[in-house]
Amino acid sequence: MIYIKHILVTAALIYANGPLHLGHIRSTYLPADIYARYCRLAGNEVLYICATDEHGTPIIINAEKEKKGLKEFVDFYYEKDKHEFEQLGFSFDIFHRTSSVENKKMTEHIFAKLKENGHIYQKEVEQFYCEKCLRFLPDRLVVGTCPYCKSKGQYSDGCEVCGRVLKTSEISKPKCITCKTSPIMKKSMHYFFKLSFFSFKLKEYIKNPNFQTEVTNYVLNWIDSGLIDWDISRDMDWGVQIPGEKSKVFYVWFDAPIGYISSTVAATPEWENFWKKNSNAKSESKKMSRSSFNNSHAKREIVHFIGKDISYHHYLFWPAMLMGANDNFLLPNAIPVRGYLNLEHRKFSKSKGWFVSISDFLAEFQPDYLRYYQTAITPHSVEDANFVWKEFGTRINTELVSNLGNFVHRTLTLIKKISNSEIPKPELSNKDKKLLAKITETKEKTSELLEKFEFREAQEEIMHTTSEFNKYLSEREPWKDRNAKRVATTLYVSLRWVSALATLLQPFLPFSSQKLAKMLEIKILSWNDADKEYLKQGAKLGEIEMLFKKIEDKQIEKMEQRLKK
Ligand code: 2FM
Ligand code: ZN
Repeated sequence: MIYIKHILVTAALIYANGPLHLGHIRSTYLPADIYARYCRLAGNEVLYICATDEHGTPIIINAEKEKKGLKEFVDFYYEKDKHEFEQLGFSFDIFHRTSSVENKKMTEHIFAKLKENGHIYQKEVEQFYCEKCLRFLPDRLVVGTCPYCKSKGQYSDGCEVCGRVLKTSEISKPKCITCKTSPIMKKSMHYFFKLSFFSFKLKEYIKNPNFQTEVTNYVLNWIDSGLIDWDISRDMDWGVQIPGEKSKVFYVWFDAPIGYISSTVAATPEWENFWKKNSNAKSESKKMSRSSFNNSHAKREIVHFIGKDISYHHYLFWPAMLMGANDNFLLPNAIPVRGYLNLEHRKFSKSKGWFVSISDFLAEFQPDYLRYYQTAITPHSVEDANFVWKEFGTRINTELVSNLGNFVHRTLTLIKKISNSEIPKPELSNKDKKLLAKITETKEKTSELLEKFEFREAQEEIMHTTSEFNKYLSEREPWKDRNAKRVATTLYVSLRWVSALATLLQPFLPFSSQKLAKMLEIKILSWNDADKEYLKQGAKLGEIEMLFKKIEDKQIEKMEQRLKK
């Protein structure tokens, strides 16, 4: 079937509350970028959306720690995150903010719709209140002991040790995070979203075959053990104000996912083409053929990339909000979930210094090294992975430098030497033709894997084929072959893979793919053409550059030492 899809790709909106580290990248921003880049190359209308999540108590706590005003604090991290994401090559069509006007409006709109449809009710509840700081203490503004696993120093909204979500006032030995006094309980009128009402519909919704069963099994368990209505209001000033209320804002998890929609609104006046069931998307119906996506007959796709800690919010709360608004919103088609990243087998922890920031990484290595290694260690599953400096160095040196970089360099320098950079004219044997056919096979196999979100395997596929071409080049030894026709053929065949690489690597290693395209003097146009004869005989190649630089042991030692300090 031939058509163009509207594909909205999102990465979980990042809390604007501290520097980005390696752990942030792997589960969401990088996989989402690979997918968005691939979908664009495959000829679809794609929007890759991200934003800073600027409300909620995590922001308040860290701004207080840094002794900054809230606005000043989020402005700073918005700019910093935006810059670092750009340095890593994340191709957002917009990097917006949940404090935006668009988000305020859309949050008010969805709230009004939910209210109109009878999914919101008010109830008086008892909340922690600090008599010294004279404020209510929602969520993370209270620390105490988990009533289940007895771990100390846990926030009142959930225990990071046993993973349980805690109800208000459930935490034992509560203390105000700022002044450490014990809070009292004070009554307050709150707004609740009837999540429980959607249990049946959500059960149907999670049958979508695009969802990972390991995740839906969890989600089903949550539904079966009874969904609890969500308190969507907070007694504080920082956030999106609840209409008609003073000193009451929406819970951060109410306005944050709405940020996916409002950022799309800010990105394009045609935002409804991505979000609404009945919009008149103009560009459907022509052009591209996509192979085997599970959902290949849908003309729209909404794909949320998330880390496993926020599955509840994305599989239950968010779709229920969209269903409840009953305003023709499409529901997410796919919500790929990935696990956490550990650093040298230990959890990332900024306070304990077990941490590598993006800026420290980029001061030493090129961004594609991070992209390559993180993709190589990330399965499409909730399994956690490990960033190990020595393994990072070894894999970059053997796989990127020796295999890929070397193959490209040998091919291009030989063409320069032998034919003064002119594209050689081949006489293809059956063996050569078979190897050339491998290019098409790799392109197709890689698409299939990418469409199933199996990015690690997709990258491996490209690397395997590179090894085969490398082997071919080594065996044919064109540098000492006296048969000019054979030399031309060897170099032609190798060059065909080099030119395919410029496109196939684009989703994974955009900087290197760009460099490669420049050396070949080609424009990367479409995934479908990756296996075509881009370079016509007689054309000339451009200047040759090294794609990758070997990582030295001392660089790895330096990074390891920094951790030990
Ligand atoms: O858990 C987090 O880091 C949240 N800031 C993610 C929000 S995702 C979306 F729903 F906005
Ligand atoms: Zn206090």
